[in-house]
Amino acid sequence: MKGKDLLSISDFDREDILSLLSEAADMKASGTWTTALKRKVLALVFEKPSLRTRVSFELAMRQLGGQVIYLSPAEVGLGHRESVPDVTRVLNRFVNVLVARTFSHGTLEIMANHSDIPIINALSDLEHPCQALADLLTISEHKGHLDGLTIAYVGDGNNVANSLILAATMMGINFRIASPKGYAIPNAISRRAQKYADESGSRIVYTEDPTKAVNGADVVYTDTWTSMGQESEAAIRRQIFAKYQVNHKLLSAAKEDAVVMHPLPAHRGEEVTDDVLDSLQSVVIDQAENRLHVQKALLFRMLGGTENMVRSR
Ligand code: CP
Ligand code: NVA
Repeated sequence: MKGKDLLSISDFDREDILSLLSEAADMKASGTWTTALKRKVLALVFEKPSLRTRVSFELAMRQLGGQVIYLSPAEVGLGHRESVPDVTRVLNRFVNVLVARTFSHGTLEIMANHSDIPIINALSDLEHPCQALADLLTISEHKGHLDGLTIAYVGDGNNVANSLILAATMMGINFRIASPKGYAIPNAISRRAQKYADESGSRIVYTEDPTKAVNGADVVYTDTWTSMGQESEAAIRRQIFAKYQVNHKLLSAAKEDAVVMHPLPAHRGEEVTDDVLDSLQSVVIDQAENRLHVQKALLFRMLGGTENMVRSR
């Protein structure tokens, strides 16, 4: 791990990710409950709503023997009621790790700069690294390996896509992304992903044609066309993204045993149809569950849990 924080999936290298996935798989298989993080406290500071991220972090910490405090958007008023550095410095005196969901990625960077304790990105406008880790675990469970697979991402070049392209290229997974003009992933992320792809031998394809991306893919991945904070653009985005829906016809271009992935929450009937999301090829509920297992491994590692590992169902 490059520093104390997880703001970007790039804070990990390939070996970090492999060992984390292996620990997460072990924890999942053995149903770990431990007192290893006894007397450690995690604060969740959220500017946006959440189901999976909040519940999985709370459970992860409790299953490791630690305590959790959730601070809702209204309670903290990050940058409104109180400055981001002040909130961060105060929480540093109380807790051992901060898990934050923010509108601006810059807010996380300010937190990290004013914090001695680890800051974990629980989703910002730029990245969703914990989701990417759960996605890799899910893919490896269903495909038995990662290297050499092909992910087709269809839709918005958003936070989820950014972390996923970086994670995939680091792990030797080919990545094809189909997005409308003006909605591709940012250049800085593309450049970094290309560097990872050059190192791992994977291939990146950018296209505006969803079928070209999905053709023969092992994984078909999509996410909402309108992320949290972009609600005022929802109507125009529905028009722009209309031909980027993952439906039965598009999915039929992928490999016969391709899996369908989505971080959820889904906007059924927009980026994905009911029949696809509810099909046997869909692994979205496994993805959601795996948030718990990867975050357990992550917290265990970041908070230095080494003792009292008691694995039990
Ligand atoms: N996938 C995900 O992060 O879901 P939540 O927004 O419900 O946490
Ligand atoms: N791209 C979505 C992901 C939600 C988990 C958003 O930011 O709202």
